[in-house]
Amino acid sequence: MTEAVNNIGKVGYLNLEIDPTLDLFAEINKLKKEKNAVVLAHYYQEDDIQDVADYIGDSLGLARQAQQTTADLIVFAGVHFMAETAKILNPTKKVVLPDLNAGCSLSDSCPPFLFKRFKEQHPDHLVISYINCSAGIKALSDIICTSSNAQKIVESLPKEQKIIFAPDKNLGGFINKQTGRNMVLWNGACMVHEIFSLEKITKLKERHPEAKFVAHPECEEAVLAIADFIGSTTQILDYTKNSPFTSFIVGTETGILHQMIKNSPEKMFIPAPPTNSCACNDCPHMKLNTLEKLYLCMKYELPELTMDEDLRLAAKKPIDRMMQLSNELGIK
Ligand code: 13P
Ligand code: SF4
Repeated sequence: MTEAVNNIGKVGYLNLEIDPTLDLFAEINKLKKEKNAVVLAHYYQEDDIQDVADYIGDSLGLARQAQQTTADLIVFAGVHFMAETAKILNPTKKVVLPDLNAGCSLSDSCPPFLFKRFKEQHPDHLVISYINCSAGIKALSDIICTSSNAQKIVESLPKEQKIIFAPDKNLGGFINKQTGRNMVLWNGACMVHEIFSLEKITKLKERHPEAKFVAHPECEEAVLAIADFIGSTTQILDYTKNSPFTSFIVGTETGILHQMIKNSPEKMFIPAPPTNSCACNDCPHMKLNTLEKLYLCMKYELPELTMDEDLRLAAKKPIDRMMQLSNELGIK
């Protein structure tokens, strides 16, 4: 087994051979029972991981599951900030993830030392941060939000309240537009949701006039402007499942198509095209996780996510605030 420590002090990766004859689904299910483990997966994970998971969801759903679980071992198939959130909510439980290097370009676009200075320049502002950020940013925030609850949380605050919204300028801009607020935005973005081509989507819509274009609010303003429905991954999925329409152009990471097709096999789903010809609407961070790595991380309980207790407590406060507000506002 090779283990490495990277330059930001996180424990690195496992590098083991796996017997190719192993039925990894059966092995993972066996390990779940043996270790009282729960596998939580985001919709952007590869199909096999989604199929073996105990729960698949968006960021809010995953955080809620992490908070409620009675499992001893939380296996988080998602990216680093999501596993971090699970640890923040569950200090006594072991949290492991298939690949500790599964980061997030949006989270990386907001380093805590720079954000601290930005915050100091706006002393009378409340800080609302999108959950796609590091524990360091959470610790500098007043309220966390996700794409499912961001708008309602902002609307629940007095109109005159000055707000900094970080790190996603696209989600922040979308909420400003929806609510008529003028939140100060951190200039961050997601590399996956910024790659969609307005021109190609417009052409696709012309070729499929019956198709509804569904988009995640991390997309750029011009792309959101032509969307028929905008929502978090769960909200988009529910929309495609429950709406009478039968074809959709999907403006978010391609992993979501797996559940869309499972829920509505009779409907047509077309991934929204990126500006270039590579598969850039696949999140390279999410897709670092594989079924093999998931199996290894459950078997060896490595790599484990650990956190400094002071940081954890500081990062927990704004998450608790989000959970409380989401419950009060009746957000599912
Ligand atoms: P949600 O699943 O909360 O909509 O977030 C999307 C995302 O980009 C996760 O990284
Ligand atoms: Fe981060 Fe974007 Fe990947 Fe989500 S899709 S994990 S926001 S890089």
